[in-house]
Amino acid sequence: MTPLLLDGKEASKALLEFLQPLVETLDPKLVVVQVGDDPSSESYIKQKMKSCEKVGMRNEHRHLDASTSFEELMAVIDELNKDDDVTGFFVQLPLPDQLNDRVPEIIKAIDPMKDIDGFGAYNLGKMFLGKEYEHLPPATPSGIIRLLEHFDIEIAGKHVVVVGRSNTVGKPVAIMLLNRNATVTICHSKTKDLEDQIRKADIVIAAVGKPKMITADMVKDGAVVVDVGIHRTEDGLCGDTDFKGLESKVSAISPVPGGVGPMTVASLIRNCVTAKERQMAIR
Ligand code: GUN
Repeated sequence: MTPLLLDGKEASKALLEFLQPLVETLDPKLVVVQVGDDPSSESYIKQKMKSCEKVGMRNEHRHLDASTSFEELMAVIDELNKDDDVTGFFVQLPLPDQLNDRVPEIIKAIDPMKDIDGFGAYNLGKMFLGKEYEHLPPATPSGIIRLLEHFDIEIAGKHVVVVGRSNTVGKPVAIMLLNRNATVTICHSKTKDLEDQIRKADIVIAAVGKPKMITADMVKDGAVVVDVGIHRTEDGLCGDTDFKGLESKVSAISPVPGGVGPMTVASLIRNCVTAKERQMAIR
């Protein structure tokens, strides 16, 4: 069986094409705050900026020195919060050591109306109220849902196993799936019967952060697999799943690269458009 390829390049192109006229009309502006020179952040930021350019969205890259103090970073956040021309911004993670312990405080300082990462308590909390309150959902979970929808993968009534419980992917995607009437199981490093759980899934969301951890013997025939991981190995980039092995067993699978990654970037731009719409409605 050749599985359906959940092609994030195709799905994100469709989303960006939908967003482009809205960007033209609303003219939002995105600011990316980077502290230091983490190599993977460099490449993520490049992709985000490239997509902004593609849809003609104003963007600015604030690249701060690796030695930036907490107070200095908070001053930048304060300035961006107050600047009416800035629609949305985010602080790229991970941060250098002197700031890493203070990530919750840093996220909390971002105005919820400009929190286009959707990492703050206000935007995360609103998702618990239901689908219609998912105004600024975190970009990766939002991209996963959009990817499934683009390829007409039914979510309602399906048993979805989310492997990974991070605040940025696992927990919020589980809520978004629940909001769409899936039956959701969240598994994590302390789950005792991990393989048995995964084997029950109609849809597997792999967000563990371990290269090729989910293999063909762990999934049921015809399952749908969405791979959120991205790892640089000696053999090139790979995800959290063994794509080659799974290909003959699953009905649909997202590739790495070119699956969830482009969807995350497009969802971030979508959040910027939503943020601008909501700010205009208030002002
Ligand atoms: N680092 C890796 N992914 C992300 C993301 O989506 N947002 C932020 N702020 N940092 C990240």
